[in-house]
Parts: sequence; structure tokens; C-alpha cells
Amino acid sequence: MKGIVFTEFLDLVEDKFGLEVLDKIITQSNLESGGVYTSVGTYSFSEMLQLLQQLSAHTNISIDDLLLVYAEHFFGVIEESYPGLLATYKDPIEMLSSIENHIHVEVRKIYPDAELPTFEIVEKTQDSLVLIYKSSRAMHHFGLGLMNKTFEHFNSTASIVLEKLNNEGTEVKFVINKN
Ligand code: HEM
Repeated sequence: MKGIVFTEFLDLVEDKFGLEVLDKIITQSNLESGGVYTSVGTYSFSEMLQLLQQLSAHTNISIDDLLLVYAEHFFGVIEESYPGLLATYKDPIEMLSSIENHIHVEVRKIYPDAELPTFEIVEKTQDSLVLIYKSSRAMHHFGLGLMNKTFEHFNSTASIVLEKLNNEGTEVKFVINKN
């Protein structure tokens, strides 16, 4: 997992929960990196999982809800860092149906070792989209947060229903209907 995902996450934790909680979740995790990340480095996903588990235990907020809020913050990072990529799109459905064949393809050019999910398009109309998310990392709520913000970015809203296709959440169906 790319360092930028860690540095932004820890910034948000400090911002929302304070330095004491940040310090606790780092010291109570068993981190190969020692909790020191650079935005261009690459670190084990298990470090992110431990940080999320510790934060969830300290705050009583579920990992899914933490990932949702974190993704909404991360979209702002994307808007700032990759404005050109977003400017390619005029419509949220077009953008979300292009994660697999364009957006993450470009991400992979920037970070060859990025660990990305796949999004298969099952059905697409002008105002609706059905996607199947697959990833061993089960970060579906990170995807949900990015989708919410994608609609907001285009001054639009949608109903997004998420259906887990297995217990682990490594395969998830998203049914998206623009309002
Ligand atoms: C992961 C970039 C749009 C879904 C990532 C990562 C980056 C990235 C850097 C982390 C890779 C790693 O740590 O190794 C971008 C950029 C985007 C974009 C620059 C737009 C310009 C989206 C959108 C979605 C999405 C719109 C909506 C669903 C995800 C998910 C992950 C991810 C769910 C977590 C990894 C996983 O589930 O396996 N993306 N992304 N991305 N991205 Fe994107």
C-alpha cells in the first residue's frame, strides 16, 4: 500500500482524535515501519489494517465507518494532486465506470507497485451503474466514500447500495442510481 494512504490517514487521525490517540494506535500496533511513512514509499497493507483495528477499538467506530470518512478526506487529496485526471470527466457515472480502464491505469503508471482493486461493469445506463468490486483488502467502504465524493464533485447526488457477495467483503456489488 502506498505511503500517501498512510500519511493522509495519520494526519486525519491526529486532526479528528488528537495526538494522544495517534500515538496510542501506533505504539499498540506491531508495525514493521515503526509508524514512520513517506508519501512515496510502499508499506504492507497489514500495517493499515492494524492501525484501523486499533483506532476502531479506541473510538468505538466500525472499521467500515472509519474507511468511509477516510475516503471522503482522501478524495480531497485526489482533487488537489490529480486535477487533470478528474477534469477528463463531466459526469459522475462516466467517471465511476472508468476507474478500471482509465483512472487506475493512470495510477499504476505513477505507482507501478500500487495495490488496486478491480471494478467490473455489470450494467450501465446514463443514470445508473452496477459495479462488482474485487480486492483481497476488502476496502469497499473506502470505495463507497470515494463514490459519494465523486457525485458531490459534479454537484450531484446518488443512492448507492452495497451488497457483500461474500463474508470477507472481498467481492461486493455496488448499485448506483443518480438522483
Ligand atoms: C486505491 C488513486 C479514484 C477506488 C487507490 C490508491 C491510489 C488510488 C493511489 C492506493 C493504492 C495503494 O495503496 O497501493 C486514485 C486516483 C483516483 C482514484 C488518483 C482518481 C483520479 C477512485 C475512485 C474509486 C476508487 C473514483 C471509487 C470506487 C479505490 C479503492 C482503493 C483504491 C476501493 C483501495 C484499494 C483496494 O480496495 O484494494 N486509488 N483512485 N479510486 N481506489 Fe482509487
